[in-house]
Amino acid sequence: MELSAEPVLEIDDIQGHILVGFRGPYQEIVGFRLDPAALGPARTALLPWANRVTSTRTALARRNAAKEAEAAGAPLPASDSVMMAMALTAEGLSCLNAAARPEDPDFLAGAARSAATLSDVTDPSNGVPLGWVYGDVPERIPDVLVIFGGDSETAVRGMADTLIADLDRLATIALRDTGVRLPEDKEHFGFVDGISQPAPRGRIAEDTALVHRALPPGDPIAGRFARPGRPLVWPGQYLFGEPTQLADSLAPGPIAGGVGTALKNGSLLVLRRLRQDVAAFQRGMENLAASFAGQGLSADAATVAAWCVGRWSDGTPLVLSPDAPDPSIGGNIHRRNGFLFSQALDSADLRLPDGSEVRFPGSPADLFGQACPFFAHIRQVNPRDDPVDFGGHGITLQAQMLRRGIPYGPAWTGADDGVDRGLIFMAYQTSIANQFHRLMKRWVNDNTAPLSRSGIDPVIGADKSPGRALERRHADGHFARSLLRGNWVTATGAVYAFTPGLSALRRMLTEQTS
Ligand code: HEM
Repeated sequence: MELSAEPVLEIDDIQGHILVGFRGPYQEIVGFRLDPAALGPARTALLPWANRVTSTRTALARRNAAKEAEAAGAPLPASDSVMMAMALTAEGLSCLNAAARPEDPDFLAGAARSAATLSDVTDPSNGVPLGWVYGDVPERIPDVLVIFGGDSETAVRGMADTLIADLDRLATIALRDTGVRLPEDKEHFGFVDGISQPAPRGRIAEDTALVHRALPPGDPIAGRFARPGRPLVWPGQYLFGEPTQLADSLAPGPIAGGVGTALKNGSLLVLRRLRQDVAAFQRGMENLAASFAGQGLSADAATVAAWCVGRWSDGTPLVLSPDAPDPSIGGNIHRRNGFLFSQALDSADLRLPDGSEVRFPGSPADLFGQACPFFAHIRQVNPRDDPVDFGGHGITLQAQMLRRGIPYGPAWTGADDGVDRGLIFMAYQTSIANQFHRLMKRWVNDNTAPLSRSGIDPVIGADKSPGRALERRHADGHFARSLLRGNWVTATGAVYAFTPGLSALRRMLTEQTS
């Protein structure tokens, strides 16, 4: 597949949070309910903010500048600049009487309506999620969702406060949440996160790809991967108005939302506030280690936790180093995501954006789950080249989302402290049913999917009686089986929103169709 066959993406119109994400350790997320009696003034107040929303071009420039400075050994000093994203829920689009509305049924129904099917705790009489701090009842479901991110806590908070002041008497606050990155980009269970992402196909200029292609042109997998382990996916999986990914072909699929869609350059954001009980997770891992030990499979809690995630806490994938973390892999961005499960990858000389080369030594296959168990979180949510759902692996590419999550709450200090901490999971896609919901309902929470021996995801899966059945293969081919009990990830809020292209966003705020 030639780069010239890929679409030129409208990076001045596409919000930067979708394709690039926000740099910096702080994020403030604010959701507003607009007052229907003050819609005109609210539109007027919001418009200048819409004009400040960070485009993909700006986000890319910031990210590249930071990467270049880091490579030169002089990291950019922390700055006061704040990046911003703006999205609207189905309620918000109705309230603004927006002409462009995604037809996605899960988006239209709203996040609370999905709670029961995602195994969240709900009131059995009416299905309303229990224990949510937002997204559950109308007063806490926003119309407009705004995300600010940056290096400076003061600057990020200051922007959020100014927006709130501008909307005083025109809107009420439905939610406010604060994301703070942990050292080394770890999540609260102690594992490096944000390593693996699909690579959207597409160009940002005539001969420049959005995601740099590191494999040499003659390499047999160069047409399918931006780098070993990072698959190329047609951008319609993340952006309306672009070609989608087919399950069984490299050719582009139908345009997401249809040709000429008014949703062009927009994306669906799934936000789930996931509380993590770290003490319970640690206890669960100790119990699991004891249970496996009883079957002759000796491993400590840290090792068993790595089996559950599919990586060691430093990011080293089990496929590449099954017995211990290896800093030369975990700390190497060219190696730590360079693997598949069913097939080995050959060595290659990768070409870096600055023209230099780096040797990728290849990776082994793990067809039978001896290195990375089938139950591991990363193998359930991205089985890569494993055949899934009793078919091929093409559907996996269609299910992948762009993840933009950030932890919230203070780092765990070792006590059973009951403090609210977790992950503000955020992910972009164009079909909630085929992407986020497929992962959660079919792969994470189904015992026999994506592979017949997968079991339920031990990190984020539901704790249902009699427990999550996990199966670990001994080196000699025998299986050890255990039932994992306990609950350590609980949804405490959720919002489904549409993140429009910038021109569409401005139109929504200026066209007085109501
Ligand atoms: C508190 C909840 C969660 C925790 C602690 C967690 C933790 C992790 C960790 C440590 C990784 C490995 C780092 C990486 O490969 O980027 C990872 C990867 C991933 N997670 Fe989660 N995660 C959580 C929730 C979710 C949810 C709700 C989903 C979506 C259903 C999800 C989907 C993914 C995906 C797609 C990957 C990348 C897998 C790959 O490509 O190899 N995670 N997660």
